Amino acid sequence: MADQPSELPADTSVLFRSRVLFLTGKGGTGKTTLAAAIGRLAASQGRRTLVCELDNQRSSLTAIFGKTPTYQPTSVAPGLSVANIEWMPALDDWLADLVGAGRIVRMIMKNRMISIFLEATPGARDLMLLHRVVKLAEQFDLVIVDMPASGNAVGMLSVVGTSRRLFDAGPIRRCAEEIDAMFARADTNLVLVGLPEEMVVNETVETRGRVTAELPRLHQPLVLLNRATPATLSDGERALLDQLEGGELGVEARELVDAGRWEERLESATAEALGRLRAVVPVALLPVLARGEGAARVVGQLTAALARQSRAKVDLVGDVPG
Ligand SMILES: Nc1ncnc2c1ncn2[C@@H]1O[C@H](COP(=O)(O)OP(=O)(O)OP(=O)(O)O)[C@@H](O)[C@H]1O
Ligand SMILES: [Mg+2]
Repeated sequence: MADQPSELPADTSVLFRSRVLFLTGKGGTGKTTLAAAIGRLAASQGRRTLVCELDNQRSSLTAIFGKTPTYQPTSVAPGLSVANIEWMPALDDWLADLVGAGRIVRMIMKNRMISIFLEATPGARDLMLLHRVVKLAEQFDLVIVDMPASGNAVGMLSVVGTSRRLFDAGPIRRCAEEIDAMFARADTNLVLVGLPEEMVVNETVETRGRVTAELPRLHQPLVLLNRATPATLSDGERALLDQLEGGELGVEARELVDAGRWEERLESATAEALGRLRAVVPVALLPVLARGEGAARVVGQLTAALARQSRAKVDLVGDVPG
C-alpha cells in the first residue's frame, strides 16, 4: 500500500491501534528494544499485549524482561507477555487444529508432515511460525513480532505467496490463506526500524521497496528512526561554532567546541536520514540514549519517549525516568 510522502512526524498511535505488528530492520538497529518498548506502552494502556520472537535461539528479550521466552506466552508485567515461537510446537498446534485427533495420530501425521514439508514445501517452517501468529492474535489485543533482520524477514513473509502459488488446495494452501488474510487486515502493520546512518537508510529504503513489491497487501505505515538526534542547534549557535573553531582556545573551550561539533554532526546525520526516508514514508524519531545504560533501562526510556509522542495517558510500570 502506497503511503504519501510526508514532512510531518509520523502518527505513532497506529502502533497502538494495531493487532499484529511486525518489526524488522537491519541487524542491531533496535528492533527488540522497540518491540519491548511498544509492548510496555500498549500494556500500560490496558491492551493485552504479547511480544514474540520467531524461533530465536538467542533471545534478547531475556535481558530486558528477566525471563527467557518460551513457546507458551509467559507474563512479564501486568497485561504484557513474551513468547518465542518455535516451529516444532507450532507444527504440532497446527496439526491439532487440522486433525483434532489424539496424540498418537498427531505424532504419525507430524512425522509424515515433516518429511513432506521439508522435501516439498519451501519455507514450511516459516509458514508454521506465521500461522501461530494468526492464532495468538486471536488471544491477545496486540501481538508484536520481533522479526529477524530485513532480508530474512522479507524472505520469511514472502513464503506465504510462494505457498499460495504452489498449492491450489489442501491444508497448506488453507494455512497460507489464513496468514494472507492476516496480512491484508488494516490493523496488521509492518514497521521498519532504522538508524541515521547511510548504510542503514539504504537498507531501510530498499526493504520498504521489496515489501511493497513482494507483499503489496501488508501495510507499512511508518519507519521508526532509532538513535536519532533532532535538530536543536540554532543558526546563531552554528555560526558561533564556526567562529570559535578558527580561534585560539583553552582546553575547556576546545572541549566545548568539540562537543558542539559532535552534536552538529549527529543532528545533520539525522536530518539527512529524515530527508531521504520522509520522501517515501512517514518517520517517527526515537532518541539516542547514553551509552552504558542497561537493556531494560533503554526500553524504559524509549517507552517514555513513545508515550510522549503518542500523547498517550499512561501509567507506566517499573523504572521509567521522567
Ligand atoms: N535509542 C537507543 N539509544 C541507546 N541504545 C539503544 C537504543 N536503542 C537500542 N539500544 C541498544 O542497542 C543494542 C541493540 O538493540 P537491539 O538488541 O534492540 O537491536 P536489534 O535490532 O534487535 O538487534 P538484532 O538485529 O541483533 O536482533 C542494545 O544494547 C540496546 O539496549
Ligand atoms: Mg533483536
